[in-house]
Amino acid sequence: MEILKTKNLKKYYGSGENLVKALDGVNLSVEEGEFVSVVGTSGSGKSTLLHMLGGLDYATSGDVTVAGKEIFKLNETDLTIFRRRNIGFVFQNYNLVPILNVYENIILPMELDGERPDKDFVWEVMEILGLDKKKNNLPNQLSGGQQQRVAIARALASKPAIILADEPTGNLDSKTSQEVLGLLKLTGEQFGQTMVMITHNEAMAQLSDRVIRIEDGRIVGGQ
Ligand SMILES: Nc1ncnc2c1ncn2[C@@H]1O[C@H](COP(=O)(O)OP(=O)(O)OP(=O)(O)O)[C@@H](O)[C@H]1O
Ligand SMILES: [Mg+2]
Repeated sequence: MEILKTKNLKKYYGSGENLVKALDGVNLSVEEGEFVSVVGTSGSGKSTLLHMLGGLDYATSGDVTVAGKEIFKLNETDLTIFRRRNIGFVFQNYNLVPILNVYENIILPMELDGERPDKDFVWEVMEILGLDKKKNNLPNQLSGGQQQRVAIARALASKPAIILADEPTGNLDSKTSQEVLGLLKLTGEQFGQTMVMITHNEAMAQLSDRVIRIEDGRIVGGQ
């Protein structure tokens, strides 16, 4: 079953001389349970694509359909709720809340949604990610790699149908990267999750089911 789809998706920034066609007619279809990686040079439009797939911003034109729903037809409030229930994000810059400790950050999206966290599962994820001893630390008491792992744990904790990850292991050493990717794959298989992951690392890309190549806002391979 198709879970993610874009139709002639365009995202332009600026205007006139400053017009940037960050995405310029992207047609993409991702099957439920698929693990897709996205590669391309800096500025090619990878993060923009991920933002559009996750409904973090509205497109200039074209559609994104997630689990049968055309997300740009939702108003901002409904889109926020839809996102929280269906999508787990791992960003390049983590977006952790500075006044919440590790555990509180991880369960925050569920709390916001009035959902009860599966504590055993959250704990298991934290142990695998090596965060169990950092449970009570604030983000500014963690290393960059640890903060990245908190962001990954937060994305996994609610077992979302779709995980969108922007260089999820960009700041981790190669051994930890392998472990984290292994965990993402394992939970993906266990919960039938779909994953779209941006990476600059060819070896990591090769572990996915399909590699999509993007150049100047267009898909040039793996469609
Ligand atoms: N908010 C914005 N306003 C103006 N231009 C933007 C904005 N966001 C992105 N762009 C431009 O859109 C293009 C695509 O950016 P994007 O962040 O998607 O690239 P990327 O492939 O993720 O690059 P990187 O590998 O460096 O993260 C770039 O030319 C960038 O400068
Ligand atoms: Mg990017």
